[in-house]
Amino acid sequence: MTQHVSPPLVLIPETAPFNEDQRAWLSGYFAALLGPAVAGATALAPGEAPATGPKLADNDDAPWHDPSVPIGERMEMAKDRPEPQKLMAAMAQQDCGQCGYNCADYANAIFLKNEARLNLCQPGGKETLRMLKKLDEEFGAAGGVPAAPKAEDDAPKAAADLGPLGYCRENPVEALFLSRRRLNDPGGEKETWHIEIGLDGTPIQYEVGDSLGLFPANAPALVDAVIAELGARPERVIGDRTLREHLLINYALGAAPDNLYQLLSLLTSGLARKKAQALASGEDPDGDAAYLDVLGALHKFPGARPDAEVFLEALDELQPRLYSISSSPKMDVGRVSLTVDAVRYNHRSRLRLGVASTHLGERLPEQTKVKVYLQKAHGFGLPADLSKDVIMCGPGTGIAPFRAFLRERAATQAPGRNWLFYGHQRQASDFFYKDELNQLKDDKVLTRLSLAWSRDGKEKTYVQDRMRENGAELWKWLEGGAHFYVCGDAKRMAKDVERAIIDVAAQFGGKSPEDAVAYLAALKKAGRYQADVY
Ligand SMILES: Cc1cc2nc3c(=O)[nH]c(=O)nc-3n(C[C@H](O)[C@H](O)[C@H](O)COP(=O)(O)OP(=O)(O)OC[C@H]3O[C@@H](n4cnc5c(N)ncnc54)[C@H](O)[C@@H]3O)c2cc1C
Ligand SMILES: NC(=O)c1ccc[n+]([C@@H]2O[C@H](COP(=O)([O-])OP(=O)(O)OC[C@H]3O[C@@H](n4cnc5c(N)ncnc54)[C@H](OP(=O)(O)O)[C@@H]3O)[C@@H](O)[C@H]2O)c1
Repeated sequence: MTQHVSPPLVLIPETAPFNEDQRAWLSGYFAALLGPAVAGATALAPGEAPATGPKLADNDDAPWHDPSVPIGERMEMAKDRPEPQKLMAAMAQQDCGQCGYNCADYANAIFLKNEARLNLCQPGGKETLRMLKKLDEEFGAAGGVPAAPKAEDDAPKAAADLGPLGYCRENPVEALFLSRRRLNDPGGEKETWHIEIGLDGTPIQYEVGDSLGLFPANAPALVDAVIAELGARPERVIGDRTLREHLLINYALGAAPDNLYQLLSLLTSGLARKKAQALASGEDPDGDAAYLDVLGALHKFPGARPDAEVFLEALDELQPRLYSISSSPKMDVGRVSLTVDAVRYNHRSRLRLGVASTHLGERLPEQTKVKVYLQKAHGFGLPADLSKDVIMCGPGTGIAPFRAFLRERAATQAPGRNWLFYGHQRQASDFFYKDELNQLKDDKVLTRLSLAWSRDGKEKTYVQDRMRENGAELWKWLEGGAHFYVCGDAKRMAKDVERAIIDVAAQFGGKSPEDAVAYLAALKKAGRYQADVY
C-alpha cells in the first residue's frame, strides 16, 4: 500500500507563526505523537521535507525501503540517511499495516520515543527487531529525542488512551464468528476458507479495500506440548490466569525470540550455552535457526528448563493478523467475510500450523466470539468516480478484496467496466467463487475474466502471463484512465505484476524502457496503481 486515500490531516495550520521547515517538522512530530489513532495523520504532509532538524521518514517509494531487497542491502542504502529513514529501511514491507501504522509513521514514532514496542513489524520478524533495537540504542546514545513522558509504567491505560474502539489493534471488539466454508474442491493442495463474521453490536463500519485485524489463539496441542516439555503444571496460576490460558491467548509460540535463547543460555553450560548465546544474537550455529519455534528451542536445549513464570517473560506477545475483507457493506449488511489460506507445513516430521489461519480454518467454533478490529486501508480503494474502469489482479487469496470490489460495483451499479485477473494452482480445485464470478459476468458487472492456472499444464501460467497476452487491450484500458489493483503474495507475485505493466507500456504503448518505468511510477503517484500485498 503506497498512497493515502484520505487527505493528510493538517496538524499545524498554515496561519501558525512558523516557517515552512518548522511547520513540516512540527507537523511530523505531532503526527507521530498522535500515532495511528489519528486517521489520515501523516508524518509529513506530501512534498514537505524539513531542511533543518532531523528529517522524518515519509512515504515515498524510496529504494532503501524496497521490501524485495535483503535487509543488509537496505541498511547499506540507508547508511547516510537520517535516523528515522534508517529505522524505516529496517522494516520489511511497504505499509502492510499489521503494526497499526504506516512504515514511516512507525519509524517516526520510534525515533521520537513515542513508541516503545520495537517488535511490531511482523514481515520483518527477528531480523527487523534486532536492527530496530540496535538503531534505537545508537540513537539514544547519540542523544536523540528524549522519551515522551509516560504515565506510570504498566499502569492499565484508560479506554480513551487506547484509540477508537474497534478501529485499532489496541482497542479491539468482540464479534461473532458465524461460519467457515471450504473454497477448494477436492483434488488440490491448498486449504482456503471463506469466513463470515457478524458485526452486529460492534461499532465497526467498513469500506471495500479495508482489512480486518483478528486476535488468534494458539493450537491447544502445541500449548500442551510446550507445557509438558517445560515440566510445568498447566493449571498453575500466574497473574490473572493459568499458565495454559496464557499460552493459548497471550504469547506467541512461533519463532523462538532472542530473549528465550538468552534465558536458556543462563540455564546451560559449555557448548550448549555458547550456542544459545549465538542464537540470541542472531547467529545460526547449527543452520536450523529459521525453523526453531518455541517448542523447537526447548527441544534443542533439553538441559535448560526455566520456571514457567520466567519462561513467559521471555516470550513475545501473540500479535493479531490482518485479512483483506472480501465482502461489501452494501451487499453484506452487518457482516464481513474473509478469504483465508490455512498455513500448514511439515518440518522434521512435526506439523507446523499458522496460528490465525488455522484458528479460523479449524479451531474456532461457529457462533463463538472473536476479538477483531478494523484496519482502514491506506491508498487501496475503488475510485470515487463510478464511471472509471477497474482492472484487478488477485491470484490465490489475492482475490479477497476484488470479490468485495465487484460486489460493491454491482451494488452501486457503477457504469465503469471491471476486469479481473485471477489465478491459482488448478482450475478444478482452486477456482474460488467460480459461480459468483460467472453470475457477475452474466449480469455484465464483470466485463472480462482472465484466468491463469499454474499447475494444470506442463508450463506454469501466471496472471502476469495473461496480462502480457492481453497487452493491447490492457493498454487501451489504462490509456482510457482505468485504475489498476494488485493483491496477494508480496515476495514474488507483486514485483512480477509491476514488471508486466512496464512491459505492456513498452510493447503496446511504444515507450522506451525508462519511460515505461516512469509510466508505472506516474500511475502509482496518481493513485491509479494500488497494491494490497502481504
Ligand atoms: C494487509 C494484509 C492483508 C492480508 N490478507 C490476507 C488474506 O486475505 N488472506 C490470507 O490468507 N492472508 C492474508 N494476509 C496474511 C495473514 O495476515 C497472515 O499472515 C497469514 O494468514 C499467516 O498467518 P498465521 O497466523 O496463520 O501464520 P503464522 O503463525 O504467522 O505463520 C506464518 C509463518 O510460518 C512460516 N511458514 C509458512 N509456510 C512455511 C513453509 N512452507 N515453510 C517454512 N516456513 C513457513 C513463515 O515464517 C510465515 O511467516 C494478509 C496480511 C496483510 C498484512
Ligand atoms: N513465502 C513463500 O514461499 C510463500 C509461498 C506460497 C504462499 N505464500 C504466502 O501464503 C499466503 C497465501 O497464499 P495464497 O493461497 O494466496 O496463494 P499463493 O500460494 O501465493 O499462490 C497463488 C497462485 O500464484 C502463483 N504464483 C506463484 N508465484 C507467482 C509469481 N511470481 N507471480 C504470479 N503468480 C505466482 C501460484 O503458483 P505456484 O504456487 O504453482 O507457483 C498460484 O497459482 C500468502 O500470504 C503468500 O504470501 C508464501
